[in-house]
Order: sequence, then C-alpha cells, then structure tokens
Amino acid sequence: MNQPARPERPEPVPPDDPIRRKPVVALSEEEAKIELARLAREIAWHDYLYYVQDRPEISDAEYDALRARNTAIERRFPHLVRPDSPSKRVGAPPSDKFPKYRHPKPMLSLEDAFSDEEVADFFERVRRFLGLDPTAEIEVTAEPKFDGLSIALHYEDGRLVVAATRGDGYEGENVTRNAMTIGDIPKHLQGSGWPKQLEVRGEVFMMKEDFLKLNEAQKKAGKATFANPRNAAAGSLRQLDPSVTAARPLRFCCWGWGVASEWPYETRWQAYQALRSWGVPLSPRNRLCRSFDEVRAYFRKMEEDRATLPFDIDGVVFKVDRLDWERRLGEVTRVPRWAIARKFPAHRAETVLKAIEIQVGRTGALTPVAKLEPVTIGGVVVQSASLHNKGEIERLGVMIGDTVIVERAGDVIPHIVGVVKEKRPPDARPFKFPNHCPVCGSLVVADGAILRCTGGLFCPAQRVERLRHFVSRDAFDIEGLGEKQIQTLFEKGAIRSPADIFTLPQRNGEIHLETWEG
Ligand code: IVH
Repeated sequence: MNQPARPERPEPVPPDDPIRRKPVVALSEEEAKIELARLAREIAWHDYLYYVQDRPEISDAEYDALRARNTAIERRFPHLVRPDSPSKRVGAPPSDKFPKYRHPKPMLSLEDAFSDEEVADFFERVRRFLGLDPTAEIEVTAEPKFDGLSIALHYEDGRLVVAATRGDGYEGENVTRNAMTIGDIPKHLQGSGWPKQLEVRGEVFMMKEDFLKLNEAQKKAGKATFANPRNAAAGSLRQLDPSVTAARPLRFCCWGWGVASEWPYETRWQAYQALRSWGVPLSPRNRLCRSFDEVRAYFRKMEEDRATLPFDIDGVVFKVDRLDWERRLGEVTRVPRWAIARKFPAHRAETVLKAIEIQVGRTGALTPVAKLEPVTIGGVVVQSASLHNKGEIERLGVMIGDTVIVERAGDVIPHIVGVVKEKRPPDARPFKFPNHCPVCGSLVVADGAILRCTGGLFCPAQRVERLRHFVSRDAFDIEGLGEKQIQTLFEKGAIRSPADIFTLPQRNGEIHLETWEG
C-alpha cells in the first residue's frame, strides 16, 4: 500500500514483445514472474496518471486489458502474487496536494462482468456462499454506474464535516472545502432519524453538456481541455482553490454509505429511501430487481438509454438487497462479494445521428461526416464519425435521426458500423448528397466511388486543405503552424497560397501577428 506518490514512468512494453504476446496459458513460470513485475509497474503508473494527474494516456479498454491479464496470470500462478500487486489495491495513493484522510472503512472497488453469463456466475457464487437453493431468486438493487469519481461525505449531527476522495481506498484526499461548493451535496441533512454519525458515499460527476461547455470555455481562455467528463470532474474537484471548483458544474449522486452510528435498515432499498428523505440525491433510475430476468432487462434498457442520458455511465451495478446477506458475504481483497458491475463494451456505443455534413478535402473529394449526439467511448467523447463516401451511406441505409452504432478502436477515427433500424423515429429523413460543392458551389462529379468538387483552386476548402497539407509533417513539416493557425490565417487573408507563408515576416508590418489570439 505504501507506494511513492509519484511512481516512475515504466519502460514501455512493445506490443510485439514475445512475452506480452503470449496467451496466459502459454507462459512459463519465469515469464509469468517477469510479466507480473512489468504489469505491476505499468498499472501503478496508469493509476497515477488517471487518479492523481487526471490525465490518462491509455483508453479504459487498454487499462482493463492490463488488469485482466494481471488477474489471469495471478490465477494461474497464485504463489507469484507480488506484495505490490495491482489486485491488492484500488485507485492510486493520494497526492500531496491535499491533506490526507484515512477512511474509517475502506472504499472498495467493484468486480466487473462483461456478459450475462458472468452476472449469472455472480448470482451462483452468492447462492453457494449463503447456502441457498440453486433456484432461489436473490433480490438486488440495480443502479447506473456513474463514470465520475467517488467521494465520502462525513456527517456529524447532520452537518457535513469532512469530504474525502477515494485515493487508494484506505487513504484519500481531504477535499472538504471544495465539496462544500457543490450544490448537490447537502451541507445539512434534512428530515429526521439520521444517525449521529453517518458517512454517505457517492459519485461526483459532470453532465455531458456542461463538460462540452467547460471545454469550449477552456479553449477560448487558452487553457488545457479535458478528455472526457470524468477527467473534467476529477480535475475540477481536485483544485487547490475552492473558488475554481465552485465555478465548475459538478454534480453528486449517492450510491451507498460507509460508517454509521446506527443503521436499522433491513434492506439496501429501505436505506436508500431513508437517505433520500434526508435530502441526499439518489438516482431516479435505481430499481429493485426480483429475478434474473429483471436484472437482464434492466441492463438492456440502460444500454439502450445510455446515449440519451445527460451524463456518462459505464455500466450498471447490481447489489444484494438484504443487508444481513451483505454482511455475511463480506469482501475479498479489493471488492465486495455482494455487488457486481455489469460493464458496457468499451469500444462501441449507440448514439443518435443528428446531421451529416460534407467536408471537402485537398483534392476536392467530398467526405460525409456524421454529427452525433456526444457519447463517451473508451474514455473519449465522440461527436462525429466518418461515413467515408456516398456508397457507405447507401450500404448502411442510414437516415438522419437514426440510432447508430459507433465504433472507436485505438486512435482510429470513429466510424459508424451499423444502424438500429427498430429505433428509427417517424421523422427520420434520408440524406441527399449535394450536386454542388457546399463550399464553393462548383459542380460535383463522380470519380469512381468518390464524388469530387470541380472548383480546383477556386474552392476555398481545397485551398485551405492544400495549405494544411503543405505545412504538415508529411510535407514541409512547419512547426507551430497547425490546422487551426492555417484556418485563421487563411480566413483573415494573411495566407492564400504556400508562398505567402514565407513572406509573412516581411508583411507583418500590416498584419501584426503578435496581436492575434493563439
Ligand atoms: S458501489 C463496495 N455503486 O464505481 C462497492 N459504485 O468501479 C462500492 N460507481 O469506486 C461501489 N456508480 O466510484 C457503486 N451505483 C454505483 C456506482 C459506483 C459508480 C463507482 C464508484 C466505485 C467504482 C468501482
């Protein structure tokens, strides 16, 4: 547990590394030892980037894959489990930015399931542990799994006294002054019957729309933008100046509790009702599922609704409702036995196609670009996707207003892989490819599968694209002259052709570049 606050950046393991490429079953003991040591270092480093720096360098899916490999190797070679194994801890140690706070009861993580079968296995394990009949139904609460950061709120006599982040699960950061600025977090409990001492646990997160607005404002102010709402929420909560946090649109939703001086409830569902009566926000989407069919249906429904929810979720959580069973089930190292997270696949998501825009490239090729309802896939907010060409639109049979399936693999540009035809709204409309260039109005002609603007250098879009190509890494590689700068310089008439780039210094007397923003 006692790791340095800032781990060393590990040597990168190339994807074609002979040990890394081997399936776990094929590893020798010696190789497994090497791999476990490397994974411990890599995971610690990515935990640090994610939890402390709020700047992850790999996608959630890549991170999950590292953890899954670590777990699989440890299962095969239990005697090789390292004292610093990632499976023994959650999150990352707190940074030195805030005073530390030791949680009176550890803040655990959740076991993940990626299929109905894995959820069924969870129910099976619970039945076996409790010695129940194999056909017995187990009631569980079903809840959205918010993609934010967890926080513990300590109340004494109904008054908020301490707020702390999860940190490594044992010790977090004391962020009380910042949490006090979040409107959703009650500073005083309402109603009656709350225990003298109570720890409320939940998630701090940001609405998708607020995240996009915040990023716009950051961009305008020349400040760093955030990769996704989760990072924006984490970065906003962990500000040294609480007035910065106060200006950020943070939300809070409760999903549980920690220590409580009295807790007379028999079920989690009852406890949630009590928390709600004290003014603690809980999700209106929480449900009580009485059978496995209901569990499956809840997941399907949330999967369908995911794109239209105003906030990001990365799955749903099922928790055994009876609290006497919860106590008996207890926990294993890092996760409780009484809960499971059913996660969405990391690289695909459904969302709504709002419009199709045409982009004109350097050679005049017209490319349709899908404008989407923002959706987070693998930790990145996707708002547009490539539709390649006219033939692709026809092949997919996609219409504006359709619910589409978007795939984003690694750094590749997201693309639409399918249409959910059953969800087509009555007002969906087909897309008509233009006969004229949307930028310069010149006639469009077919060139094999590609449609091309015939405007040539008369077309401003083609000119800008050629300029962009000219300064790009593949051509003149002019540092500091990127896409945005070229667009601005072109729009303001400072550069119309490549030769103009080289006469900028001589012409600066009229242009005054130093006074331009950015
Ligand atoms: S219960 C001991 N319920 O997911 C179990 N967690 O991957 C504690 N999360 O650290 C977690 N929504 O930050 C629970 N409805 C929910 C949740 C939820 C989001 C987060 C939480 C937790 C993480 C585990």
